[in-house]
Amino acid sequence: TAPFVVVIDGPSGSGKSSVSRAVADRLGLAYLDTGAMYRALTWWCLDQGVDLEDTDAVTAAAESMPLRMGTDPTDPRVDVGGTDVTAAIRETGISSVVSAVARHLPTRAVLIAAQRECIERCSRPGIVAEGRDLTTVVAPDADVRLLITASEDARLARRARELHGGDGEDAIAATRDQVVRRDRDDSAVASFLEPTDGVRLLDTSELDFETTIAAVLELVERAR
Ligand code: C5P
Repeated sequence: TAPFVVVIDGPSGSGKSSVSRAVADRLGLAYLDTGAMYRALTWWCLDQGVDLEDTDAVTAAAESMPLRMGTDPTDPRVDVGGTDVTAAIRETGISSVVSAVARHLPTRAVLIAAQRECIERCSRPGIVAEGRDLTTVVAPDADVRLLITASEDARLARRARELHGGDGEDAIAATRDQVVRRDRDDSAVASFLEPTDGVRLLDTSELDFETTIAAVLELVERAR
């Protein structure tokens, strides 16, 4: 039987990753972080000396990348050719250039095919997959499609606490490139700032983590 598929898109700092993991864990479903795939490809290109602006070279790198995506929501590890890159792909050196890699459409086609295969063949009865273009491009037929947003202030404050341990002025300034600039670059290739037809919108600006999880679980229950 076909897996039960929940897809969640949203901008940087919206909380979609932690929400997706928690929902997958509570429902006993697999978890796929598609952003981690673009990050892993960026790591691989840098490792292999591939010019990030060269569409053909980046696409070839995507095709040859020995990527293994862990789908356990409690410990989603990312492995490239035997190297555990789970922590390395979160570093600023990757975050600041990943949008350049994600901009190449033929490269996206390679990763999108891999994402669809992972969704179809997931090891559990269903999967929660998250990113920027899951609701619109990767899995428009998913059982549950959700866009998670938050105000720019809320997203900046969350990311600043995550990256710099506080949300003071300096931390916010240092985080701006990671959130505002990256969302602007990313929205050129995927539309994740407004929900398309049939996609539910959840604004988490004023919601704490548990309230957000409860709201998503309720949506999922209704679709089951
Ligand atoms: O979700 P995360 O911030 O880790 O994603 C890293 C980058 O991967 C994004 O900034 C974007 O450039 C790219 N991405 C994408 N499509 C997705 C998921 C991520 O283009 N579905």
